Amino acid sequence: MQKELENLKKEIFTQLKEVKKEGEEISKEVLRDLEVKFLGRKGELSRVLRGIKDLSDQGKKEIGKLANEIKQEVQIEFRNIKNIFLGEGRDDEFIDVSLPGEEAQKGHLHPLTLVQNELIDLFRSMGFMILDGPELESDYYCFEALNIPAYHPARDMQDTFYIDAKNKDGEYDLVMRTQTSPVQVRGMQKYGAPIRCIVPGRTFRCEATDACHEHTFHQVEGLMVDKNISIANFKAVLAEMFSGIFKKDVKIRLRPGYFPFVEPGFETDISCTICEGVGCSSCKHSGWLEIGGSGMVHPNVLRAGNVDPDKFSGFAFGFGIERIAMMKYGIKDIRLFQGGDLRFLEQF
Ligand code: PHE
Repeated sequence: MQKELENLKKEIFTQLKEVKKEGEEISKEVLRDLEVKFLGRKGELSRVLRGIKDLSDQGKKEIGKLANEIKQEVQIEFRNIKNIFLGEGRDDEFIDVSLPGEEAQKGHLHPLTLVQNELIDLFRSMGFMILDGPELESDYYCFEALNIPAYHPARDMQDTFYIDAKNKDGEYDLVMRTQTSPVQVRGMQKYGAPIRCIVPGRTFRCEATDACHEHTFHQVEGLMVDKNISIANFKAVLAEMFSGIFKKDVKIRLRPGYFPFVEPGFETDISCTICEGVGCSSCKHSGWLEIGGSGMVHPNVLRAGNVDPDKFSGFAFGFGIERIAMMKYGIKDIRLFQGGDLRFLEQF
């Protein structure tokens, strides 16, 4: 049967060559007759193909493949002859170069990315590195190294997603990081002191969601450790940061706050960017907006980062990027950021 197919192929191509050789106009009719004779439903190729069903499984596979290849070759040859000698199909290929092109769909950056990029630019200009850390973090870096041992009640301040999987030492100690603060210690361990860095990134908490809370959100951590760093340095950096983001003078207010990895620790407020500190519904008529936590790095955290607390001091902060974006753009519900609603996203 293989022989039969090959002979048939040879015959078809010989006859087609004859057609092309005549030098005169190729007759459409002759070509059509040949096509029916070989490729038609009752044509010779079909007749051979019909015999395939009586072959063994192996035969079906091999001869079937060969037959299909030959059929394709023959079809292509017929098409080529029609294109070249009879000009068929050419009209379909006409390209009107004067038509306007199709515009490619362009995306744009998400509002959180826009704010994050602005933060990166601002801090780079102040000589800060941009660091990254794992979102699936060890209990050690997320809590222990930050002066929050296993029994410490401060763990209750953060509703944590613990992960039901073992680490490479076979222990259950993985958590979706609740804060970007673990990178304080990772950064100091890697780069030593002095160090200036920010860590923008995604964080997770087992929150009941509402207009102000999400289970998945973003923080920007900041860390500056050097000789003689004081709260005055911190306030100056913060003022630069928020004036840069909001494009106006922003005042900073520090209130006592408790975070085990800083001493002293602060709840950190900025003057309301909507009413300029006079009092409005956004700031609950106080003139101030709470932006996150901060403080002077605790000696135990410096030690965990292999930095000598007798030689170095520093400040750290952790602010919600969603919250900053909400203030900057006047967004009322945090859930919009991940809701995927184009009517929201297209405004940026
Ligand atoms: N990581 C803290 C939080 O998420 C914020 C913080 C960062 C506080 C750095 C102090 C210093 O609540």
